[in-house]
Amino acid sequence: MLEPGWQSWAEAVFRRRSRRRFVPNPVAPEALARLESVCRGFRPFGRARAVLVREAPPELFRGIVGAYGRVKGAPHCLVMIGPKGAAAEVGYVGEAAVLETTALGLGSCWVGGLFDPDRARALTDLTPGERVLAVSPVGWTTESETWTERTMAAVAQSHRRRPLNVIASGCGAWPAWARRGAELARLAPSAMNRQPWRFAFEDGAVTLIQDSPRDTYRIPKRLDCGIAMLHFELGARQAGATGRWQILPPPRVGFFRQA
Ligand SMILES: Cc1cc2nc3c(=O)[nH]c(=O)nc-3n(C[C@H](O)[C@H](O)[C@H](O)COP(=O)(O)O)c2cc1C
Repeated sequence: MLEPGWQSWAEAVFRRRSRRRFVPNPVAPEALARLESVCRGFRPFGRARAVLVREAPPELFRGIVGAYGRVKGAPHCLVMIGPKGAAAEVGYVGEAAVLETTALGLGSCWVGGLFDPDRARALTDLTPGERVLAVSPVGWTTESETWTERTMAAVAQSHRRRPLNVIASGCGAWPAWARRGAELARLAPSAMNRQPWRFAFEDGAVTLIQDSPRDTYRIPKRLDCGIAMLHFELGARQAGATGRWQILPPPRVGFFRQA
């Protein structure tokens, strides 16, 4: 049984950044084995899963649209999979794999739009009803972002985040665990950095709501929200609160109560 890396994932939240340029240094087999064990072993919602693909075809990633650049040189990739209606769950488990990648010192980048869906589907054995929601490159990167990466991030304002009181209104009066949860959720990645998560605290529990029902860029906002759910839980745990997310139907996304 896999022991989830709660602590190392929480630390990785502060180091993770989307990386799109990879260098050909080989990744140690032990690191790939660890990432694979997280993908296989961390499936709290059952129907959502991430799969590590050892050989990523370069054509998997597509070219530039606006400020978004193409991913280049990634030797491996993650494929984020789930049935219809499970985007939040896919975001949650996919981000665990992404944060494990960061914890291992490797680069990653959620790619929900600019990938070839036929190629992605062919990489894994999908069961009937399963679909690929996103992929991520995995591999070594240069220590700091390349000039191209910095330019792309600056144009897309990728490193900006909404103020805490926008995503968690009134959080100054929340218990420390809920506030810390919102702080880590604030740093979550999202498609085009749209940050569609809003947290509300009532009767000792937290509800996550999507900012608006309309999806943009043909990428479900619930996928971003699922990523933020994992970040929230990591922050809550850091402040001593364990609990579980219960998935809710739209427009709400999830409900978190301390165990
Ligand atoms: C669900 C999702 C889909 C994304 N899709 C793409 C994509 O298709 N192409 C891309 O270059 N980046 C993509 N990104 C990366 C975001 O642009 C990036 O996370 C955001 O700008 C914040 O920057 P950061 O990850 O460096 O913090 C995606 C991120 C998420 C969470």
